[in-house]
Amino acid sequence: MLFSCFLQSCSELDKTKKDNINGFYADDGAYEIINYDGRSDVIKVDGAKTSWAVVMYSLAKYKGKMITIELTAEVKREGSAGNLLWQINDGQNYPLITSLNNAVAGVWHQMKGRIVITPSGNDFFVYLTNWENNAENTTYYVYNPTVNIIEGNPLIPDLSLLPLKSVYENHFLMGNIIDTTYLSGKYFDLLKHHFNIVTPGNNLKPDFLAPSTKGDAYQWTTAEEMVNKMISNNIAVHGHVLVWHEQTPSWMTVGTRTEVETTMKNYIAEVLTHFQGRVNSWDVVNEAIKDGLSSSDIASGWKNCVRTSANPWYDALGADYIELAFRAAREADPNINLYYNDYGLENTNKAEAVRIMIKDINDRYKNETSGTRNLIDGVGSQAHVNISLNINNVRESLNKLFSLGIEVSITELDVSTINNYDPGSGRDSVISEANENAQAKVYAELFKLYIENASQITRVTFWGMDDGNSWLSVGNPCLFDWRLTAKRAFFAVSNPDNFLP
Ligand code: XIL
Repeated sequence: MLFSCFLQSCSELDKTKKDNINGFYADDGAYEIINYDGRSDVIKVDGAKTSWAVVMYSLAKYKGKMITIELTAEVKREGSAGNLLWQINDGQNYPLITSLNNAVAGVWHQMKGRIVITPSGNDFFVYLTNWENNAENTTYYVYNPTVNIIEGNPLIPDLSLLPLKSVYENHFLMGNIIDTTYLSGKYFDLLKHHFNIVTPGNNLKPDFLAPSTKGDAYQWTTAEEMVNKMISNNIAVHGHVLVWHEQTPSWMTVGTRTEVETTMKNYIAEVLTHFQGRVNSWDVVNEAIKDGLSSSDIASGWKNCVRTSANPWYDALGADYIELAFRAAREADPNINLYYNDYGLENTNKAEAVRIMIKDINDRYKNETSGTRNLIDGVGSQAHVNISLNINNVRESLNKLFSLGIEVSITELDVSTINNYDPGSGRDSVISEANENAQAKVYAELFKLYIENASQITRVTFWGMDDGNSWLSVGNPCLFDWRLTAKRAFFAVSNPDNFLP
């Protein structure tokens, strides 16, 4: 246990400081308040004289109450680089508020974090430490540390807002993703209020369902709980995903061509049969087309556009893995709507490659079966976009997909305020007003386009409800902030015209 060494020293702390800054104090004799580096009231702490915490902030008066701690501070250390961790002393798990690993010495570090907690012990406090060597024999400076406490449940969804599923009931289904956080409490209340379909964000992926070792048992428990909870609340479930180059146990793609083909077929049959009648549409294949395609790549045929690098399904089965997966899914359950799903279709070349692939597979299938049913029933455009989005490209790409005459859905929509896929920790960034406006405008442009084409769009699913839990939390891409308060983005989706010239 990483922090157990701290247990004995807790009682040695003296928390009866006469001086403190914003409620922060340090071990008696270890600190002084000085003017330093052009800043006044800097807490200077001699690490050699403290036990393990550099500075502390008592939470004793909140005992038994749910609180949210929002912390900010500037910290500088002397000596060499070292970790800076803000944690909670709860005598047990020492939860982390925020940390900087190997923070450079001699410079100020702006630190910020947030945590929701219910203090239970008597000796509860926020503290700064470098856990490796207790507080370490060096000098620390802490400037303007602040703790903002929000008492009670910080989640304040406004359930009087018109549900998105009602706004769009005549247009398309409104979806969002779920993980276990969303199965209860205010998260579930908000989910149920606005959305009529969900996609489990992780829990139906092969690395969650398939045994991690070949031959072991499948892991249904969490997925079962999720799917059943949704269905009993009249929320439909879309399945994501059967065949993908990521989040898949490695045994599934190891072996001869025939062995891997059998593994794929068995996996698909196992999963579709298990959820039969409860999950009516599935992403059968995800992200099989590569990026950066030129028109000559496309002219050379879709098989030359298939993702080859870091794609174990391709390594084992070649470009045929896509069609094989769809055929296995059709065979396992002909009643399920089978989707091909991909990102970056705002790039018109990538959308074109997807179009020719689906057209070829579907045309051959209909020919072979002398029927009208396609093999690929739907195409999903993920739509992980950002505030520099060019809406004309989206329009052009969607038109390509509409021309296939199959279902088209927007499957993973989020609009980041930064131009990369930075996950962050969900507690480290604040959206500026300019970015919040720019983001609302992009959401408005997208929904105006979706409304214009509503007859050809089946479902619009967002990839995350609140910025705090988003997989791209640094870019704050969602409709609700971490407290579940509706952002401008939400109002832009509710009424795009109000946000467009
Ligand atoms: C993401 C999940 O949201 C994360 O929690 C996980 O760590 C990585 O995968 N395209 C997809 C989704 O099809 O499965 C990905 O989901 C996001 C990109």
